[in-house]
Amino acid sequence: MKAIVLTDQAAGTAGMTLTERPEPPAAINDVIVQIHASGFVPTEMEWPSTWIDRGGRDRTPSIPGHELAGVVTAVGYGTTGLSVGQRVFGLADWHRDGTLAQYVAIEARNLAPLPGDVDFTVGASLPISGLTAWQGLFQHGRLQAGQTVLAHGAAGAVGTMVTQLAREAGAYVIGTGRAADREKALDFGAHEFVNLENDALKDVGGVDLVFDVIGGDVQRRSAALIKAGGTLVSVVGPVEARPTDGLAVDFVVEADRAELGEIVQRVRDGRLRTNIGDVARFDDAIGALNPTTRRSGKTVIRVRP
Ligand SMILES: NC(=O)c1ccc[n+]([C@@H]2O[C@H](COP(=O)([O-])OP(=O)(O)OC[C@H]3O[C@@H](n4cnc5c(N)ncnc54)[C@H](OP(=O)(O)O)[C@@H]3O)[C@@H](O)[C@H]2O)c1
Repeated sequence: MKAIVLTDQAAGTAGMTLTERPEPPAAINDVIVQIHASGFVPTEMEWPSTWIDRGGRDRTPSIPGHELAGVVTAVGYGTTGLSVGQRVFGLADWHRDGTLAQYVAIEARNLAPLPGDVDFTVGASLPISGLTAWQGLFQHGRLQAGQTVLAHGAAGAVGTMVTQLAREAGAYVIGTGRAADREKALDFGAHEFVNLENDALKDVGGVDLVFDVIGGDVQRRSAALIKAGGTLVSVVGPVEARPTDGLAVDFVVEADRAELGEIVQRVRDGRLRTNIGDVARFDDAIGALNPTTRRSGKTVIRVRP
């Protein structure tokens, strides 16, 4: 099969090569998915799981990409809940070969059915950003209607999902980002926008939930804005700042079939829009994943035209 592989961490995304790899076998509880579309998060290059297996052994050449939409072509021993020919989407295991390939072996529990009226490109754009927003808001952040959410990076892949889901849940959403992000953040449903480039964060009043996708100084300053009993949720590594009288949580997104179902149902009925910046053919993927200008939104690779 054709696949993009990584061999050199120092080279970053520029070190990707498109090559031939053996098709993966289906292990116990796996399905094999013929990939139609794949999503990629640039920070994968910094994740240890991209380079080593769970035992700490070098696993290069590794195939990156952890979001997919495609069709099941085989099932492994003991696999239940999915069948050959079914359209699926979901999240590939961090420590195994990923989705920038024609086929992937993946545990069935990481996938959900993809309804026939949702395009594969849309399906591949949803798992990481959608599940991260869902879990951060509702599981870790315990968001309630009427609360105020400070949604950082509100024009980005995760931030647009956070904004829409929080607003649908009855929250007041303050989106943040660079000056150029204002229109997009408001278009995705933020009630107001804070430009982080001109220090407007200092004018924000008390909030119940900070959804941090930036870290560093922005995270520290945001922690100070949290009301008593509120929560700082971060997805960019261990939290460095804590609210004076509240919770701080950092987490890594997990696959969840029921939550994927909730997310895709919202896409179908128009409550949730995905944030795709670029769609590229598989043969053009390496160029698309090494952009020379600023991109806003997810890059989705259309592996099967
Ligand atoms: N823990 C997890 O499970 C998990 C899951 C998903 C994502 N993540 C992480 O979350 C982060 C965001 O992911 P994403 O896919 O949403 O990325 P993204 O699409 O690039 O969105 C991030 C947004 O925040 C903006 N931004 C970043 N730093 C900023 C700053 N200092 N001031 C103003 N705006 C700033 C970005 O603008 P620019 O593009 O101009 O910088 C972009 O619009 C990444 O680090 C990713 O690895 C973690």
